[in-house]
Amino acid sequence: MIRVSIENLDKHIGEEVKISGWLYNKRSSGKIRFLVVRDGSGLLQSVIVKGNVTDSVFDLFDTITQESSLSVFGKIKKEERAPGGFEMEVTNVEIIHLAKEYPITPKEHGVEFLMDHRHLWLRSSRQHAVLRVRHQIIKAIREFFDNRGFVLMDAPIFTPAACEGTSTLFETDYFDLGKAYLTQSGQLYGEAGAMAHGKVYVFGPTFRAEKSKTRRHLTEFWMVEPEVAFNDLNDNMELAEEFLEHIVLSVLKHRQPELKILERNTKFLETVKKPLPKITYDEAIEILKKKGIAFEWGNDLGGTDETVISEQFDRPVIVHRYPAQVKAFYMKRDPQNPKLALAMDVLAPEGYGEIIGGSQREDDYDTLINRLDEHKLPHAPFEWYLDLRRYGSVPHAGFGLGIERTVGWICGLDHVRETIPFPRMIYRLNP
Ligand code: 4AD
Ligand code: MG
Repeated sequence: MIRVSIENLDKHIGEEVKISGWLYNKRSSGKIRFLVVRDGSGLLQSVIVKGNVTDSVFDLFDTITQESSLSVFGKIKKEERAPGGFEMEVTNVEIIHLAKEYPITPKEHGVEFLMDHRHLWLRSSRQHAVLRVRHQIIKAIREFFDNRGFVLMDAPIFTPAACEGTSTLFETDYFDLGKAYLTQSGQLYGEAGAMAHGKVYVFGPTFRAEKSKTRRHLTEFWMVEPEVAFNDLNDNMELAEEFLEHIVLSVLKHRQPELKILERNTKFLETVKKPLPKITYDEAIEILKKKGIAFEWGNDLGGTDETVISEQFDRPVIVHRYPAQVKAFYMKRDPQNPKLALAMDVLAPEGYGEIIGGSQREDDYDTLINRLDEHKLPHAPFEWYLDLRRYGSVPHAGFGLGIERTVGWICGLDHVRETIPFPRMIYRLNP
């Protein structure tokens, strides 16, 4: 008998098949017993009727525990009322492993308990749905860039210097070479790639020694960073809005069942279409002032500020031209007002905050040297980066999208800890 996946059952109606998986739950009514089996691809209700199986198989029902692994054999028929829409008339059951008492039960558990059991929690339907949406988002990201002639460029994780400020660096000993730092962003390497290939994207894990215990911060997160030669800030914003539109459309198209499990109201996703609203930092501050929030020009927008601003829009909003003093050393200044950086952040709606940060890059050698000095950064580890301004420097721009915040927003989750299989936070390193 062939083993098939639950997600492919529509091709096996009327056939005898084997399904291997785990016991999701069981119930009985009179002479009929139901084993709901999950195989990772879906749920199947298997129906055991006394007389259709041997007595010993019929009696297995009494001893089989939640999450025991098993194979069920039988004929598949359509059954609209069953989870997944199919049912199996069981002829045999084989237990592979009888599970010990499973710690996660249908009753409510605290988040810390669930996080301690994250390796098992991943089997639950909500977590299962989140990971599938995450996969779809990553697929859509690759598709977007691959279809537009971008080259994938992997950046190193051990780096010799800070890229996004020295306060969130993870440091480690590196043989005879002194200290190495876990990368905060692959951007600087992406810039080298853009000068070689025109358009590249870096996609990998990044690290920030974030001391903040917020629902938006991880110490290890995934970031995708496109970098494009000859793009300016406007081109960059346009790329970002087309990119977000593509990602959201792809999830809406392919992951409706998962969005349903997550009870996601997709109203705020269906509006994600180019052009997105664009406001300057100064306009953002006006919004805050109108809402009665005291805010001094020159400060960075905090999490609450971002929430208040994004609540004014029914779709992501792009905030551009921030005070240079709160932004990274590599950002180009606005020729119209050198106090401003040609920076852009995309704030997600519904209080999800910044999902994209980016800018046009400083492409002038002397200016960049001054910026390094202003930020008290050493020159030596940036010599290679300065070379990009010595040999055929061109205007260029790029941005970074945080995968976990994007997953959190699209899935409608309260906290980024559920957006990655094994989250790393200031107070969590296990499992
Ligand atoms: O705004 P950030 O710091 O930008 C950069 O690192 C640039 N070098 C990107 C570039 O221009 N190539 O980070 C970019 C995004 C944020 O908008 C956010 O989505 C995510 O990365 N991010 C975090 N996500 C989870 N936990 C954290 N601690 C994060 N820090 C940033
Ligand atoms: Mg940022």
